[in-house]
Amino acid sequence: MYDVIVAGGGPGGSVAAKKCAQGGLRTLLLERKKLPRDKVCSGMVMGPWANDIIQQEFGTIPQKILADPALLSGHMMHVPGTQPQPIFCKTPLAWRKDLDFWMIQRITGGYLNLKTQPDSVYDQIYREAEPYLDTRRNDVHVSLSYDFARRLLAFYPKADEAIVLPAIVLHDVGWKMVPEEKQLGAFGPKAKDKQTQRIHETQGVKIAQNILTRLEYDPEKIFEILSIIDGHDTRQEALSLNDQLVKDADKLWRFTPAGVDIDHARFGIPRDSYIQWLGTVIDDWLFTPEAKEMAHTALAEAKIDTGANEN
Ligand SMILES: Cc1cc2nc3c(=O)[nH]c(=O)nc-3n(C[C@H](O)[C@H](O)[C@H](O)COP(=O)(O)OP(=O)(O)OC[C@H]3O[C@@H](n4cnc5c(N)ncnc54)[C@H](O)[C@@H]3O)c2cc1C
Ligand SMILES: [Fe+2]
Ligand SMILES: [Fe+2]
Repeated sequence: MYDVIVAGGGPGGSVAAKKCAQGGLRTLLLERKKLPRDKVCSGMVMGPWANDIIQQEFGTIPQKILADPALLSGHMMHVPGTQPQPIFCKTPLAWRKDLDFWMIQRITGGYLNLKTQPDSVYDQIYREAEPYLDTRRNDVHVSLSYDFARRLLAFYPKADEAIVLPAIVLHDVGWKMVPEEKQLGAFGPKAKDKQTQRIHETQGVKIAQNILTRLEYDPEKIFEILSIIDGHDTRQEALSLNDQLVKDADKLWRFTPAGVDIDHARFGIPRDSYIQWLGTVIDDWLFTPEAKEMAHTALAEAKIDTGANEN
């Protein structure tokens, strides 16, 4: 039993948890990422106030955490509509990932419990898939489709996430084996090269099998995942509920603002006309009512960007 649970191991959470623990409360600090975790930040420890708080709560920042240069003599503030404002103030420059980790390490010893989410098998599969996703914008596609798959799974308790999630992460890894200049002839509204389209499926099956076998994934599940990947674009009908969710998640990213921006440009179709066309395929493409609703919502967001009309 804990008196306090603090969510988030950034500087804010670390200080809050430390204060609670110091005040005698049984405190648990939860961080959802594996530590040390990356964080978008310029890494400047700004102003004497930030330096003072860090010094007071955690001690002197170790040299090995500081970047090169370790100390800036000031910085320039740029605010739209005003003149740039120089600020002269000695500013340590730190690697943010290491700074936050150091702060957490300083407070967890003896004070409080820290729990980070264990790396799930899906994280491991994703990491293994990543080197194959840096083509055809599949890094963006798969990250959005993975999110849709998770959302769809919440509506279908009878579907198996251990099939659906690996299948959506791995379904397009085979594109890595197709030269980029050949890819555009093999997908999208003007695709004619069915042979190349098929190659990305068969190559995908081989790569996915290697990854899943290496991770010692359940062989029965591997079989179903590979059956879904094999034919995920060329086979119109779904083999199972799991396959329906994978097919829906695969398509759904296209309706998002990011999907619309990427696809209309590479297919050479004006953005407004492309959005209009997408609005006409929702019922044909998607299996589940939840996916259809998500497609309409995503497309409405894409429309707001340009004021285009779906109908
Ligand atoms: C581009 C950019 C540049 C910046 N540059 C600077 C700079 O140079 N100097 C500066 O001082 N500030 C800078 N900042 C601001 C600074 O990053 C923030 O003010 C600071 O990170 C806020 O700290 P925090 O602890 O509130 O949040 P965070 O540091 O964002 O920490 C939140 C933590 O909560 C975790 N989390 C989220 N949800 C959950 C959950 N449900 N369960 C468990 N854990 C969860 C996250 O993984 C994360 O680790 C910058 C910000 C940006 C975006
Ligand atoms: Fe595909
Ligand atoms: Fe896909």
